This record gives sequence, C-alpha cells and structure tokens, in this order.
Amino acid sequence: MPEKNLRELFHETLKDIYFAEKKILTALPKMAKAAQADELKAAFDKHEEETQEHVARLERVFAEIDQAPRGKTCDAILGIIEEGQEVMKEFKGKPALDAGLLAAAQAVEHYEIARYGTLKTWAAELGFAQAVKLLEATLVEEKKTDETLTRLAESGVNQHAEAA
Ligand SMILES: [Fe+2]
Repeated sequence: MPEKNLRELFHETLKDIYFAEKKILTALPKMAKAAQADELKAAFDKHEEETQEHVARLERVFAEIDQAPRGKTCDAILGIIEEGQEVMKEFKGKPALDAGLLAAAQAVEHYEIARYGTLKTWAAELGFAQAVKLLEATLVEEKKTDETLTRLAESGVNQHAEAA
C-alpha cells in the first residue's frame, strides 16, 4: 500500500499534469486552426511547440523519482478544454470567437500555473533538485504564454469581439 505521504501526492499530481499536457497537445492545433487573428494562431502554434517540451520535461521528472511516465485522468483539464470546444462551436465565424478562444486558453494556462507552482514547491520540499529546475522552466513558459495572451486580448482581440 502506498503511504499517502507528500512523495505519493507529488507522484499523483505529476500524473495529473502529464495527462493534462498531453490533452493540451491535442487541443492546441484545433484552437490554432479555429483562431481568426494571425497573432492568436501564432501564439497557439508556439505554445504547441513548448508543450511538447513540457511533456518531455515531465518525463525527466518521472525518471528522477524512478517512476514510469503515466497519466491519470484529469477532469479539470477535460472540463476546461470542453468549454473551449463549446466556444468554437457556438461562436464559429462570429466576432467574439477569438476572445472566447483566448479566454479558454488562459483558463488552461492558469490551471497549469497552479499545478506547476505546487509541484515545484513540493519537489523542493522533497529534495528533488533536478525536478525543481525542470518544473520551474515550464512554469516560466506557462506564465509567459499567459502574459502573451493578455497582451493579445488588450491589443485588439477583445475590441474586435465587440463588433456587431
Ligand atoms: Fe504546459
């Protein structure tokens, strides 16, 4: 029986974000395809590349704790992605489509930021030095993506959405 200690919680949460990253990897190309503004498309494409690296980094963290990389169904990310798909369907061809996509993407980023922040703190507590660096590197990229999305929202996507 697992001990249900912090190490176990770290491993479980790692499986959660591993599942989430892989789902995000399948969602991003669809979001890039749906986006109308070129800058938003570009932001989704860039983040897809980064997300591949996030998956690879997580695999290195699994290795550090001597575990095989395995995901565990994360209902939170499934729900957030589902909401994004609803927006794509309901606002297809409409002025507010990009604003909705952008909002969905930011919800994804905020989920990831929460997870990576926690995991990094736990890794430090548990003495997994390499994991701290890997999780921090991804956390920085998630935060940058979130900032890029905020900039895009402020620089036109939202104004465009107000069009009749
Ligand atoms: Fe990520």
